Parts: sequence; structure tokens; C-alpha cells
Amino acid sequence: MTIRAIPQGWVLETRTTGYALGVNDAGRLSHRYWGVRLPYLEDYPLAANPAGWASFNGPTHLTPEEYPAYGGISYIDPCLKVTFADGVRDLVLQIDPAQQASFSQTELTIHLCDTYYPLLVTLHYRVHAEYDLIERWVTLHNLSEQNITVERVLSAQWHLPGHEKYHLTHVNGRWLDEFHLLREPLVQGIKVLESRRLTTSHHHNPWFTLDRNTADEQRGEVWFGVLAWSGNWRISAEVTEFASTRVNIGLNDWDFAWNLAAKQSFTTPSSYAGYTDEGFGGASRRLHDFVRTTVVPNPHLTHKVLYNSWEATLFDVNEHAQLELARLAAEMGVELFVMDDGWFHGRTLDNAGLGDWWPDKQKFPQGLTPLIQGVNALGMDFGLWLEPEMVNPDSDLYRAHPDWVLHFPTRARTEGRNQLILNIARPDVQDYLISLIDRLLSEHTITFIKWDMNRNVSEPGWPEAEGEPREIWVRYVQGLYHIWHTLRTRHPGVIWQSCSGGGGRADFGILREADQIWVSDNTEATARLAIQEGFSHIFPPSTMEAWVTDASEHLISLEFRFHVSMCGVLGIGGHLLRWSERERAEAKRLIAQYKEIRSTIQSGDLYRLRSPQHHPFSAIQYVSKDRSEAVLFAFRTYIPDPVELPPLYLCGLDPDARYRIDGVDDVRSGQAWMHAGLRVGLNNFQSSLLRVWRV
Ligand code: GLA
Repeated sequence: MTIRAIPQGWVLETRTTGYALGVNDAGRLSHRYWGVRLPYLEDYPLAANPAGWASFNGPTHLTPEEYPAYGGISYIDPCLKVTFADGVRDLVLQIDPAQQASFSQTELTIHLCDTYYPLLVTLHYRVHAEYDLIERWVTLHNLSEQNITVERVLSAQWHLPGHEKYHLTHVNGRWLDEFHLLREPLVQGIKVLESRRLTTSHHHNPWFTLDRNTADEQRGEVWFGVLAWSGNWRISAEVTEFASTRVNIGLNDWDFAWNLAAKQSFTTPSSYAGYTDEGFGGASRRLHDFVRTTVVPNPHLTHKVLYNSWEATLFDVNEHAQLELARLAAEMGVELFVMDDGWFHGRTLDNAGLGDWWPDKQKFPQGLTPLIQGVNALGMDFGLWLEPEMVNPDSDLYRAHPDWVLHFPTRARTEGRNQLILNIARPDVQDYLISLIDRLLSEHTITFIKWDMNRNVSEPGWPEAEGEPREIWVRYVQGLYHIWHTLRTRHPGVIWQSCSGGGGRADFGILREADQIWVSDNTEATARLAIQEGFSHIFPPSTMEAWVTDASEHLISLEFRFHVSMCGVLGIGGHLLRWSERERAEAKRLIAQYKEIRSTIQSGDLYRLRSPQHHPFSAIQYVSKDRSEAVLFAFRTYIPDPVELPPLYLCGLDPDARYRIDGVDDVRSGQAWMHAGLRVGLNNFQSSLLRVWRV
């Protein structure tokens, strides 16, 4: 059993964790425990019954409520805030006496209702036992005859054991510079991370990890979580004056409201969270396994080695030039050839064409079919770049439908990269995009789409919409999922990449539709090491598309650049016509090597041995699930001499089995490689790929 009833509550157990909640004497649904699984049911603590604190804080302020609403004499950052039709803005939730709760082996549903108004708040819990994850989401049901304005509705409040001091680890960055790790102490007050940009954003990611400043990569207790949402989101980590630490996670309530009409429901996105005592590495391995098996649309996919033409040709694409690149790519062993931006009607630069998704007559007088056939004849699949949510004012689409973009009637339409954002909350825009892309995919043998989104929001208006205008943030993302999902369902053989100027749309929500993610527009290998490390805390290598390009080619060897990209889903993005024969031969060798090791990289366990964000000598290791093979990458960027590189302590091997390592004479036990270590000698800007085999 993974969910069990205990006196006045429930325990949710995963492979190694326990999570308990229940009702306290005051009838409040309270958090009781989250941590290592306890042997006996009676081990789980009872719900607390705190008294108030002087006249300034009521008992609910001190109660670790599972889903606190705004109301009463409590100042906890709430999960739910509404205004009823009569203007009342106070909520008093209790377990619904009519429906209470129900549970199965893996799902617990608890119904809360307001004590006066017919508003039902259903809390959903789902246990993903094998991954030590608990999923939470919430549904609101307006059972009344009047509208309710919802001003905040989060997915969960996650409670940490009280009276402890925590550090919060999160990622931050900007375009070209995503996924930098930051670990900072939480102090009394609220730390907010969010996106207000309509997408997940390059700046933060809806992922958190908390520890007591005692965890490292391999060991120590950590609590971690994500939100599966690709629009505005908010995480707030609160430490109260009574040393209670909680993390709120959900839709951002900034500029948000939802008109919950009579008899209507609203469902939040899911938050997934977990606990492990295996450090940051243990947390990310759980997320990786979960994404690979449960979240992505094609769980057992082997991701192909691709070539992307963007950095080689920019907008200057045509059949001849693309086929020249394709021939060289095929000779090197590339499996999928992707034509990027520039192929569609009127697209010569970034100032025209977006919206008109048919081949440009000048560049492709016979359409795309001859190119696709040429690529297929070379033994490769064909993929294409699209940016469906965008429109250039200089396009047939915009000239026909200027009202289809997000805008306010009295304001200028602010352009970003000369483009405006189509309002895909509108059903007519959704239908238009679906039928256009459907036709493109039906008429061509296209097996890969790179779905891009190259600006953030401005003037988020929808003047024709009736009702609550601030619903746009959520309706836009629902529209995105609807379009993408419809196309996926109609074309199940197509593989999809999520890109938003690099890593601007990387999250567990989009991974339900997308097979892989373009992590950053920054393809410079040493910068990429750090970006990829941050990404790897949240997402598995099977989703991490990484290209070898010509960035810093005079400083960084082709082999180093390949090794960095081989840490995920290998792609090539350099200008192959400028690569020498020797370079292409080397690339061919490395691509062949990648194909030999990719199952371990894409579906094995990832261990970060030394952080490239903290050390110029870094290392990462992948171990096959049966521990029979491992792959070790080590990178040295710049360290002035004299230097003695420290040993690398391998991880995840079978301690009693014996392993040999490429280029090393000794055969030793897994225990020895893990604890006595391995010395890898590297010069500046040199890297090494070592394969490890059980003998
Ligand atoms: C974005 C993407 C790039 C490329 C360009 C094309 O910046 O991240 O990879 O596709 O758009 O315009």
C-alpha cells in the first residue's frame, strides 16, 4: 500500500519516504510529517494543535495547514484567495462533512469547503512511489449560482520539518546564460522566485531544493520540487517568526484573476515534490527517472544525432545550400537533419514572414519536398523549425488578422525582434495554427519540429474577450498545450523540441508534449558546461539537446566541444562546409562513439562529480541501470600552473564488482574506484571521455 489511513489522517509512502497529513482538534487539515519513511504507522506524528500567540497571531497562523487560504487571524502566505459575489474576501475552509476524503493505492482526494459559501476545494495527492515523488494539484468547484473571483490558486504548500534552518537552491540566469545554481540561506520572511513573462523564462525555473546546509551531491537530506507549468509561475519560500518553513508553488497571481462562474471548476497544474537523503544527486536522479518514464510523450525513445543549420546559414537557406550541408552531415553519421529559421514565405531576415508557414517560393521554388527527399535519400530524417506563436507585422497573416495579437487598443504594440505575439488563447487562432501545421506535416515527411518562441510578453490584452481579462495568462498556456497536443496526437511519429530563444521554456509541463529541449542559445563549450550542469539538476540528459558549433573554435578543440555536447543529446550546429576533412573525420569518429554510449547517457544514472560552476576541473559520470557500464567525462578549462588535479571519485558502481577503465592498466573493484579514486591528467582546455566496464 502506498496510501494508508491513520488516526485522523493519512500517510503517503513512497519507496523511501513518508508524508503524513491529517485533521487537528480544531478541524484544520494539517501537515504532520515529510521525510524518511518510518517503520510503523504509529510512528507518524499527530497533527499539532497550536494555541495562538498573544493577540497578534491566531492558532491557524501557527498551524502547518496543508492548503492555507486567506482568512482569519493568520498571515501565512496563502495558497488560495477569492472574492465572493457579495464582496467578502475571507475564506474559512474545513473538511467537507458531505464528501470528506477518499483514497486508492496511489491517490488521495480531500474535499474542503467553505463554512458559509458553496465553494468546494478539492486537494489531490498522487504517489509516484518508485521515484519518491508526491504530486499535488487542486480543483476549485463553484457550487453556487453566483460568480466567484479567484485571485490566487496555488498547486501546493510543501512543509519542511520545523525549527530548522534551511538553504534554498535554485537556478537563475538570462538569455544566453541560463541555469546558474544559487544556494542561499532562508531567513525569516519570504523569498519569491517567479516568471511574469508568459513563458517559464530564462531567469528562473519552477524548481526548488532545500537542505539544512549539510547536503552535498552524494549525501544529505534534501527536499525538492517542481511545477509542471509553462507560463507565469511563482515559488515563495516562507520562514515564519515561529521557525516554520514552507514552500508555496503554483500559478503566479501577479496580474491574475479567474472568474469562476456558477457551477464551473478550475484545475491547477501539478507540483511534484520529493525527499531524499542522497543529496542533490539523489534528488536529480529521481526527477530524471520520473521525466523519462512518466512525463515525456515517448518514454523509451533513443534520441537521434541531429544537425541544425542555424549557426551555419542563418536565414540564408535554400535547397542547394541545405543539401550541401546535409551530404557532409550524413557522411559524418548524423541521423536527423533540421532546417532552422528562414525557409518560409517572405523570410529573408528577422523582420518579416513569421505567421506565413509555407515554403518561400524564391528559396524553394518546388516546395520542400525535393530537399526532404534529398535528405531522406542520404539516410537521414528531416526536421523543421517553426515559431507558431509569433507573427511579424510584415506578414500576410498579420495583414489579414491584426486583431489576433495580444494588445491593448489604446497602446502601441511593442515589438521584440520585430515580432508580436499571437493570442493563442483565442480558439480561432488555435484552429488556424493547428490546420496550417497539420497540413505541413501531412504533406511532407517531417519527423522533427523545433518549436521556438523568441520574445516575452508585452501589452497582454485581449480586447474582444468577455469576462475577466486577467485570465489571459492561463488561457494562453492552455491554448499552447491544446495546439501542441492536438498536433502530437495527429502526428504521433513526430519528435518535438521545445525552444524559447534557448532555455526559456524548460519545465515539466512542456515535457508532456516535447521530447527534448534546446537548453541555451549559447553554444560556447565552456559556458555550456555550466549551463548544462544547472539544467541537469532538473531535467535528464535525454531531454538536453546540445550542439557542437564553431563558437570559440580557435580556443577549444573539436574534441572538447564534442565531449561537452555528448553529455546530452548530441547535435552538430557548426558550418560543415568550413570544417576540414580532418575535422569531419574526427567528428565521424566521435559521433560513432556517441552512438555506442548514448543509451548509458540518455537513460542511465547521472552523477555530477565536480561542478563546472565551481571548478575549472569538472567531471560528470553516467552509469547504466544495471551498473555494467559507465561513461566518465572530465573537463579542464583554464587553471594556471602549477597545478595538481585532484582524483575523481567515481559513483554508482557495484562496490564488489571489478571494473576496468579505458587507458588504465589496473582492474579494480567498484569500491576502489569510488573511494580510492582515479587520476585523470588534463592540460588547459583539454577533456577526456573514459569508458568504464564491469569485468
Ligand atoms: C532562436 C533559437 C535559435 C534559432 C533562432 C532562429 O534564437 O533559439 O536556435 O532557431 O531562434 O531565428
